[in-house]
This record gives sequence, structure tokens and C-alpha cells, in this order.
Amino acid sequence: SSFVHQLADEHLSEEELLADPVSKIAAVGGTRHPNIPLPRDLFGDWANSGGIDLQERSILHQTAEAIGAFPFVPEGAATVPVGDAVTRAQAAFTGWSDQSIETRAATLERLADLLEANRIELMALAVKEAFKTIPDALGEVREAADFCRYYAMQARRGLAPIALPGPTGERNELRMEGRGVWATIAPWNFPLAIFLGQTAAALVAGNTVVAKPAPQTPAIARAAVRLAHQAGVPQDALILVPGGPEVGAALTADPRIAGVAFTGSTPTAKKIARALLDGDDRPLVPLIAETGGINAMIVDSTALPEQVVADVLTSSFRSAGQRCSALRLLVLQEEIADTVIEMLKGAMELLVIGDSGDPATDVGPVIDDAAYDKLMGYRDSVKARWMKTLPVPATGRFVPPTMIRLDDMDDLRTEWFGPILHVATWPAGELARTIDRINAKGFGLTMGLHSRIARSGELAEMRARVGNLYINRSMIGAVVGSQPFGGEGQSGTGPKAGGPHYLHRFCAERSVSVDT
Ligand code: NAD
Ligand code: ALA
Repeated sequence: SSFVHQLADEHLSEEELLADPVSKIAAVGGTRHPNIPLPRDLFGDWANSGGIDLQERSILHQTAEAIGAFPFVPEGAATVPVGDAVTRAQAAFTGWSDQSIETRAATLERLADLLEANRIELMALAVKEAFKTIPDALGEVREAADFCRYYAMQARRGLAPIALPGPTGERNELRMEGRGVWATIAPWNFPLAIFLGQTAAALVAGNTVVAKPAPQTPAIARAAVRLAHQAGVPQDALILVPGGPEVGAALTADPRIAGVAFTGSTPTAKKIARALLDGDDRPLVPLIAETGGINAMIVDSTALPEQVVADVLTSSFRSAGQRCSALRLLVLQEEIADTVIEMLKGAMELLVIGDSGDPATDVGPVIDDAAYDKLMGYRDSVKARWMKTLPVPATGRFVPPTMIRLDDMDDLRTEWFGPILHVATWPAGELARTIDRINAKGFGLTMGLHSRIARSGELAEMRARVGNLYINRSMIGAVVGSQPFGGEGQSGTGPKAGGPHYLHRFCAERSVSVDT
């Protein structure tokens, strides 16, 4: 099938893929229940975090016990002034970029092993510092390890010099080389996976890195950098500069920065883009920005309601809705709206809201007081429109999972980064127009469709202007190497994290021609 060819082209030989077609192809190609984790040996040469799956229950249990045992590194301790960090990283550039691709790739693979070996500490930090639920914390470690292994593989496959044709007597070659010092700037909601994913990509491409974590999550970033050094990244090739927006602004204002990999909100991405153009003598440098979205799921009357309900709950409320990919706007075909809404109301009752460190928790608190106040303020302002909300523990920053009715899907114009789901309807026969109206919001991160009409799926594939389209499944939890992640429009610049083209953006392309 074309799917086999596509995978074969991208990742592994057709023979390899067909050696175990049932589990490998069905798991990736199936559209009905693909929330089941992929077999982790799909790309045999990079992913072996299956080890975590096998021991999952014991890991969750150990983590619950370990929370409390890992003290935070006090914020601000051992910080390096941004200018000094860039000077040191610049001095380290030649030594690191001169290392072979194989050396850099092997370093990333050692880092992946160390992440897994230290997973309990890392998970406990993710729970304590970012208020991740324990299963989400496990996902953090898995994804971080997968990024390291995947980028190691892609570096070996994609960064080697390419011999190009030319006239007799001329040797032509295209080289992918590090650009210099990259700034990586991360959000708090994936304080390990995104922080390290951006950083690992920059490093394996031959750059040195000054890495700024989110101010809410410096301790897990410290742990990650410590492991990277232990894996063999030279001390000055990766320097952590904890702090808030002012540290990020100082970093992007430094004209010696050779590129910025940023994940966070759209307004911050625009500030960074402006900062990088400030200064007449400043070189033009790449900005990779991955930002937010107003992500919608369209459901038609042929969809399986039970599957829709399960996928909506996962997409909207898991991680307390604090994923850029999360579902914000559910658009139901008018004929089925009442039924699905009633089912959703019932299913929401089953969500367990509680402390992050309790393995039973589905929805934990939100990240900080500012987020809590903003979300609660919005929620209160539209109280008349609530269709369903849940009780929460009396103390703590728990935003009640809430479903809100909209008269018109165009009314939602802001990304509310929490467990708040908006619901609107669309009339039969207007699928194309509905997709266009979602596109018109100007964001383009994730979109979902639930339909058993093949033609509707094809229409969405042609028309949806999003980075990640999910048909008949949930809209979160993109898997490295299988669902390269990242949006378009106000949602980001690309290239996609966890995809085959990501590393190239971190490189300078150099063409060398020699008259032999
Ligand atoms: P944010 O934009 O407030 O902060 C992100 C990072 O940028 C932080 O490290 C922050 O300190 C830094 N920063 C802030 N101002 C800066 C400036 N002027 N110059 C340089 N750096 C600056 O975002 P957040 O609240 O931490 O994260 C939530 C947002 O991130 C949401 O909008 C979410 O959708 C988005 N997000 C996107 C993705 C994706 O892959 N597309 C993934 C996760 C989160
Ligand atoms: N990559 C994360 C997800 O897909 C944001 O949920």
C-alpha cells in the first residue's frame, strides 16, 4: 500500500516493515483506536523505550513513593550571566562541531539511556515542579528519550555530506554543518521533553546551546542538563540559563546567537522574531517557533459516539488542558449534538480531580496562580453559558473541567490554556465550510474529525490548514517519528519536532565545489 511505501521511504526498508505487518502497520495506520501506544520497536534502530512500558505499573508506584525525596535546586543558584554563557558556548563551538556526526549521535543515545535510568527522579520532578500527573510524567521521560534517539538516527541519515553531480573533473558536495550558538527557549508544560528535544536537535546538528527553561520549571531542566553533560556533551557546549522573560529577552538580543528554537505562546514568538531583526549589523538567523492554537474537532452524525466521548475527554482535559495540542472547540453536527453533549456530561463525572502525585488523578492543578486567575476569570465571565462543570478540591489551584456552549463557533478567538471545552454546532452538508471557518481563526496546530464517511476524511485531509490532523482518534500525544508535531499560521513556523526535516533547520548548508 502507499502507506507501506511512505513508511519505507522515510524510515526503514519495506522488508523490515513487512516482517511484522500486523502490529506495525495496523498500529500506525489504524484510525479507530490508535491511542494504543505504538510498538516501540517500529523504528528498530532508535526506539527502545518499550522497556518503560513493560514495567509501567511498578514505575508509577515507585514515582508516587519518590515524590518528596527530590529537593528542588533553589532557583537562581549557580546561574551564569547570559553574555558569559554565550561567550563560553561560542568558544566551545569549534570543538563540538568538529566532532563526527557519529560521536554526536552516540552522545544523544547515551543521554536517552541516562534519561531512562533516572526516570524516577525525573518523573518525580515533573510531578512536583510542573504538577504533571504521574502518567503524564512518564510520557515526558519517554518523549525526551525518543527525541534523543530519533534525532541521533536522523543525524546519521540526513546530515552526512551529499555528493552531487557536475562536469568531469569537478567534485561537488553539499554539507550540513552547525551554525554556532543556538538559544533554546522552552515552556513549562513539557519541561523535559520539549526543553530537551529542542536542545538535543541543536546539539546533534553541530551547534552549541544556551538553554533557557521556563521560570516555573528550572529544576527538571537542571537535571536534564546534568545528564547531558554526563552523557558526554562538553560543559560549555550546553549551558543552562534559568530565569524568566528578561533572561530570554537578553539571550535573543545577543547578536552572537546563530538561531533560536522557541516553544511557547504566539505573542512571545512575535517578540522574539522582532528582537532577532533588531540591529543593522545583526546577521539574519533562523527562528523555529512552535506556539499555541485554537484546536477544533468536528464530529458528524456517522461517528461512533462512545469513541467521540472518550477522545474528547482525553483531548480536552488530560494534562488539565495544558497542552498546545489540546481540544478547545468541539463542533458537533446539529442532529447529534444533544446526544453527544449528554454523554459527555455523564462521562465528565468520571474524571478524578486531585493532586498530581496521586496515581489515580486524571486532572491535576494548573501551573501557577497567574494561570489559575486568568482561567477562573474567563470561566466566571461566561457562567451563563456553562453546560457542565465539575466540583474540585477546596484547596489548590484546581480549575474545574468545564464545558461551555457557544452560539457561534466564530465566537472563540482566544486560546484558553486549561481544562475548558467549548461546544458549537454545524449544519449537515457544510463540512467544507466548517473546516474553512476553523482555518479562518488563523491558527493551525491540531484539528480532529470523527466521521465514518471516507470522503469526509479525504476532504479534511485536503482542506484543513493545520500541522497535525487527527481522524477518528484523540488529538494529543503526538508520537516522535510517527506524528511529527508543529503547526502553521499563528501556530508556528515549522519544521516539525520529531520529524525527518527538523534537524536541517539547525544547520548551515554549505556547497563545496573543487576542480580536481
Ligand atoms: P510563554 O510564551 O509565556 O513562555 C515560553 C518561554 O518563553 C518561557 O521560557 C518564557 O520565559 C520565555 N519568554 C517569555 N518572554 C520572552 C521574551 N520576550 N523573549 C524571550 N523569551 C521569552 O509560554 P508558556 O506560558 O510558558 O507556555 C504556554 C504556551 O506555549 C501556550 O500558548 C501553548 O500553546 C504553547 N506551547 C506550544 C507548543 C507547541 O509545540 N506548539 C508546545 C507547548 C506549549
Ligand atoms: N506534542 C504534544 C502533543 O501532541 C504537545 O500533545
